[in-house]
Amino acid sequence: MAAVYFHYPFCRQACHYCNFHFSTQLNHQDDVLEAFEGEIMLRKNEIPTALESVYFGGGSPSLLNPESIERLLHFIEKFTPINNEMEVTVEVNPDDVSELYLKQLRSIGVNRISMGLQSFSDLELRMMNRVHDAGQGNRALEWTAEYFDNFSVDMIYGIPSSDLSSWQQNLEQLLTYDPPHLSCYALTVEPKTVLAHRVKNEEVIMLDDDTVKSQYDSMVHLLEQLGYENYEFSNFAKEGYYSVNNSNYWNGKPYMGIGPAAHSFDGKRKRSWNVSNNIKYIKSIREERLPSEHETLRENEAFNEYIMTSLRTSAGVSIDRINQSFGIHYSSYLEKQAEKHIIDQRLYWNGDVLKVSKKARFLTDGIASDLFLLKN
Ligand SMILES: C[S@@+](CC[C@H](N)C(=O)[O-])C[C@H]1O[C@@H](n2cnc3c(N)ncnc32)[C@H](O)[C@@H]1O
Ligand code: SF4
Repeated sequence: MAAVYFHYPFCRQACHYCNFHFSTQLNHQDDVLEAFEGEIMLRKNEIPTALESVYFGGGSPSLLNPESIERLLHFIEKFTPINNEMEVTVEVNPDDVSELYLKQLRSIGVNRISMGLQSFSDLELRMMNRVHDAGQGNRALEWTAEYFDNFSVDMIYGIPSSDLSSWQQNLEQLLTYDPPHLSCYALTVEPKTVLAHRVKNEEVIMLDDDTVKSQYDSMVHLLEQLGYENYEFSNFAKEGYYSVNNSNYWNGKPYMGIGPAAHSFDGKRKRSWNVSNNIKYIKSIREERLPSEHETLRENEAFNEYIMTSLRTSAGVSIDRINQSFGIHYSSYLEKQAEKHIIDQRLYWNGDVLKVSKKARFLTDGIASDLFLLKN
């Protein structure tokens, strides 16, 4: 395995758009921490010898104190070396951090922060039910930039009360901190969220596609001008600051997910995922049973997944790789399916690599699904 991911399944309060797995009942945090170690013991044979990244995501792993994070790093270290070169990331919420907290994370070997800032507008933050306000966001970013050379900021565009100019103001404020990495997501309406309920009841009207596209296109234009590479649809990095964790995932490398709802991949065709329930997870690990299910991707599913992830990246879809992994039948199919998009200048060939043109980048997911092979 090339990467280890911990899913910390607790949050102070539920953001109205989010359907990741988390609980706002904070009373089982110690039990989950104990179960993390239990799961590692049960899966110790899967821990990679050449680990490239450890990532604490969630939920809100910034609810963890630095001692607990350090303990987990030492626990992993019993099975595989962790060195200074390796990427060690913690996702943090602005309301959880203090200057001291960030300093402590740095001192225990965390070398990358991913800050969930989302917006600098109090109106937008309230609408999304974020805990933090703009003042806390600004302070948390100032401290992060002071203690970490490598950090990323999550932002959301397409927020109902926003327009092109308010999104540009958000980006301009963010750029004053000179972040080496950004992840910017269009707000999506996920099932079983407060946002979905409000949209259904017509209390909230989502932005039209043209406005969201104009926000995306203007962001790409601005960030590329400033030297960021749009190395994945939603991700931008200065040279040398690609996320190792995310790149592993997009390059189809193996990863081991620890914690409730965490997913794992063997780098070939096998995926597994843990139960999305904290109590069931804790109970199962205590009984020394892995609370996971798995599936083996069929050939066309693995092909479709490769198309979707790689078309979203600046590396593009490699015909060589398709020939090697899936055979000539798949590469001929892809070439034929791509034809009309090439004529319409949505796709282009760069040598034997298929890429999305800049003007069509916002449409990447739709183009990718048009290239899918639905049956073997
Ligand atoms: C699951 S959160 C975990 C990080 C941390 N708890 C936080 O809130 O910043 C990871 C990121 O997913 C993004 N996200 C979650 N749900 C989303 C949605 N419905 N639409 C757009 N972005 C979303 C947010 O930008 C968030 O920073
Ligand atoms: S966006 Fe982050 S803080 Fe908000 S509910 Fe989701 S995981 Fe928790």
